[in-house]
Amino acid sequence: MFYRLHQFAEQRAFILAIFILLTVSVGGLVQIVPLFTIENTIERVQGVRPYTPLELAGRNIYIREGCYACHSQQIRPLRDEVERYGHYSLAAESMYDHPFQWGSKRTGPDLARVGGRYSNEWHVEHLIDPQALVPPSVMPSYAFLLENRLEARDIADHLRANRAVGVPYTDEMIENARADMIAQADPNADTTDLLARYPKAMVGNLDGNAATLTEMDALVAYLQILGRMVDFTDVRIEDLTQ
Ligand code: HEC
Repeated sequence: MFYRLHQFAEQRAFILAIFILLTVSVGGLVQIVPLFTIENTIERVQGVRPYTPLELAGRNIYIREGCYACHSQQIRPLRDEVERYGHYSLAAESMYDHPFQWGSKRTGPDLARVGGRYSNEWHVEHLIDPQALVPPSVMPSYAFLLENRLEARDIADHLRANRAVGVPYTDEMIENARADMIAQADPNADTTDLLARYPKAMVGNLDGNAATLTEMDALVAYLQILGRMVDFTDVRIEDLTQ
C-alpha cells in the first residue's frame, strides 16, 4: 500500500513536494519546539550578568562602527584558539547579547576575551591611532569617538528594549540607568551601588578625559568587560553551572 502511495507521489512532482514539506516540517518542529520549553537550553553560568548602561552604549557603538566586520567574539574549542585567546566561549557568555557578536571574519584578532588584557590607556591610544602601537595594523582610526559626547538621554529605553527580549534588567537598574552610565566613567563618583548591580564593571577614568562623557568612554567600558564576567581560574566548567 505504501509502495503504491509512494509510486503515486513520485510521479506527481507537486504532490511529492507537499509530502516532502510535511516531512521536513514535522522533523523540524520535533527538533526545535522543545528547545523553547526546556529551561536549560542555555546552561546558566555564574558571573554572567546584563551589561552596565555604559557597556551597553559601548556595544551599540561597536555595532554602529562595524567592528564585527573585522573581529569575531567567539573562541572555538580548538587547541590553537584556546592557547591564543583563552578559555573557549560558552553559550551563556553571550546569552544577553542582542544581537550576538560571534561573527566569523577575523581580519583582526578575536575579542571575546580582550577585557583586562590591556589598560584603558592602551585601548584609547590604539583606537586613536592603531598603527602607532601596532605598525602593520590595517585597523582604521576611531579618534573621533573621543570628540563625540555620549548621548545619555535614552539609555533607560535601551535597557527596557533589552528587557523586552529577555535580558533580566530590574526596575532598579532601569531607574538608575542614566546615573549609572555617568558614574561609571567618573573617577570621583561613588560606584558602590553600580558595582553591586554590575560586578566587575570597569569604573573610573576610561578615556583619559574625566570631564566629558564620550563615546570613547563607552567603547572602552565595553571592551574591558568582554570575557571577564566568568571566572575561569582553577575552575572546571561543571563547577560553574548552577
Ligand atoms: C578593517 C578591519 C578592522 C576594523 C573595522 C576594526 N579592527 Fe580592530 N583590529 C584589526 C586588526 C588587523 C588588529 C590587529 C592589529 C592591531 O592590534 O591593531 C586589530 C586589533 C584590535 C584590538 C586589539 C586586540 C588584541 O587582542 O590585541 C582591539 C581591542 C580592537 N581591534 C578593537 C576594535 C574596535 C572596538 C573596532 C571598532 C570600533 C575595531 N577594532 C575595528 C582590524 C580591524
